[in-house]
Amino acid sequence: MKSPHMRVVPADVHAQLAGVTRVYPAADGGPGVHALGPVDLSLRRGEFYAVIGPSGCGKSTLLDVLSGLSPPTTGEVVFEGKPVGRTVPDGIGIVFQEDASFPWLTVRDNIAFGLRQGGVDGAEIDRRTDYALAFMGLRDFARAYPPQLSGGMRQRVCIARTLVMQPRLILLDEPFGALDAQTRLIMGDELLRLWRETKATVMLITHALDEAAMLSDRIGVMSARPGLILAEIETGWSRDRDSTIASDPAFGAITSRLWSLLRAESIKAVGGSARS
Ligand SMILES: Nc1ncnc2c1ncn2[C@@H]1O[C@H](COP(=O)(O)OP(=O)(O)OP(=O)(O)O)[C@@H](O)[C@H]1O
Ligand SMILES: [Mg+2]
Repeated sequence: MKSPHMRVVPADVHAQLAGVTRVYPAADGGPGVHALGPVDLSLRRGEFYAVIGPSGCGKSTLLDVLSGLSPPTTGEVVFEGKPVGRTVPDGIGIVFQEDASFPWLTVRDNIAFGLRQGGVDGAEIDRRTDYALAFMGLRDFARAYPPQLSGGMRQRVCIARTLVMQPRLILLDEPFGALDAQTRLIMGDELLRLWRETKATVMLITHALDEAAMLSDRIGVMSARPGLILAEIETGWSRDRDSTIASDPAFGAITSRLWSLLRAESIKAVGGSARS
């Protein structure tokens, strides 16, 4: 049965948060930590949406609430027209910040893991795993173990593990945080290719303003905790963009707008006072 407060979600909206807050209860029964919101956010079907915000502002909390990993304290989360409950709905794939590959499994078995858990037929597992290995440039390393790979390659294994599940919404929490600048640019281009080919909706959480400016259709800028969406910026890039747009004058303009929105919030987040 529909809740009487359920809003009508327009057809091009893929996922939506309405009036969402998250307060983590304190262990001693005290006031708890108000981490997020209230946030209203709509992800359009097929868009690439980046979230930036100062450290500790509630970005990971936003991802957890959107995906059903953590319940909202108030408000409503909807994915593909249905309320999100206490489990991650089919169709949502998550790539976590930390390397979540299993060191005791080969690259191939890491990638096939979720499909095997889901009881998918063996031939289909092989087909999807082969595709993901090729797509992420890992075919020559299918029999290697993650500790034998570079950081960028391990992160590709994690993305491939999500890709084989054929998610329609991919949530990535600072997936390139541990990589050097050049590898991050290359991974960003690979993520754009993945987004184009799968036509999935992507939400990317990142600390890096240039990454957000380069990759996204829209960028949500969050305040210091409790995280609110302060502004949403449309980049206007074409769908076939890549990291070479960093030399476009519009790129510099977007990056400096992001920093002017974020500067005071970042100072608040580290406990300082902002001077203009
Ligand atoms: N499970 C939890 N229990 C209690 N408090 C939590 C929990 N998870 C997060 N918090 C608190 O909520 C706030 C927001 O945390 P969150 O991890 O969402 O921030 P973030 O923006 O992802 O930070 P970072 O940029 O450092 O990754 C922080 O003050 C954090 O201490
Ligand atoms: Mg985080």
